[in-house]
Amino acid sequence: MSARIATALAHPNIALAKYWGKRPGPGNFPAVPSLSVTLAGLATRTTVVFDDALENDALVLNGEVAEGEASARAVQLLDRVRAASGRKSKARVTSANDFPTASGLASSASGFGALALAATTAAGMDADAAWVSDLARRSSASAARSLFGGFVELAAGPVHPRGDEVLAAVPLAPPSHFDIVVLVCVTTEGAKATASTDGMKITAAESPYYAAWLAEAPRLCAHLKEALLAGDLERTFALAERSALAMHASALAAGVSYFRGATLEALREVHALRAKGHVAYATMDAGPHVKVLVPRSEADAVAKAMAEVPGVLRILRAVPGEGARVEP
Ligand code: DP6
Repeated sequence: MSARIATALAHPNIALAKYWGKRPGPGNFPAVPSLSVTLAGLATRTTVVFDDALENDALVLNGEVAEGEASARAVQLLDRVRAASGRKSKARVTSANDFPTASGLASSASGFGALALAATTAAGMDADAAWVSDLARRSSASAARSLFGGFVELAAGPVHPRGDEVLAAVPLAPPSHFDIVVLVCVTTEGAKATASTDGMKITAAESPYYAAWLAEAPRLCAHLKEALLAGDLERTFALAERSALAMHASALAAGVSYFRGATLEALREVHALRAKGHVAYATMDAGPHVKVLVPRSEADAVAKAMAEVPGVLRILRAVPGEGARVEP
């Protein structure tokens, strides 16, 4: 069989209603529903070549040979594509982000989103978007959402998964639905934070508030979806902040803290800006950076104030964007 090649591009996404925690059992199924916005501008570009001459899958991420967890997850994804397509050869994967790793945006969502699309295309599969989203989810659940543009939902998995159930993300509204800007306030660039997979595992095992999070997260996500579809921007933002704080509270109670001094200063400033009448709400993922959600009309004023917060090193602007696509 001759080498088959495809290149795909995917953007990162930021969860407004957070995914935190997995169903026990196989398949990497989330324990709670989540809702995100896919971001324009920043992207991961991944090329997959199936090549009979290779003895093993070979992965190069951002110019370096990938090893460990990232490589193992990618090989598992490629194994699923081989099993579904009947293609036997190993693959060469070259992947690069056009945004810095320390930018405060997780690259696993765009990375596995782009890999899933490039691998199925290179294998010659005629896979539908849901199959590709499910494939990406198995490597990193947030990646399921990066296959689609705009505002995207990922339901919780089955309570007792067998492992082979399909769970794909679903687009809810196009990027133009809300004219918003996400201000990524990059704080400390110090030690690497606990990876989200590990953070959720520790939270589930040790947090006295994990059960409360499991009960609250679906309610928050449902209300957020309602507000979003009703076009109520401020209520959507307010619920996004609540979701982030509830997620971090459950993690914190297990000793999993992503907060640094600058994180708290930035959160305080967002609250102060609201007290002055600005529409600005905060969200945070498994890292110390604070992402401020604002209507476009507020972006300049809020970015200026956030840039003055002690410990905020720089601010990246992102807006809602399109889903993953195959490059010609
Ligand atoms: C805080 O998708 O990275 O960003 O499925 O274990 O790879 P795995 O986890 P991952 O977790 C993302 C966690 C989050 C919230 C979110 O994106 O919903």
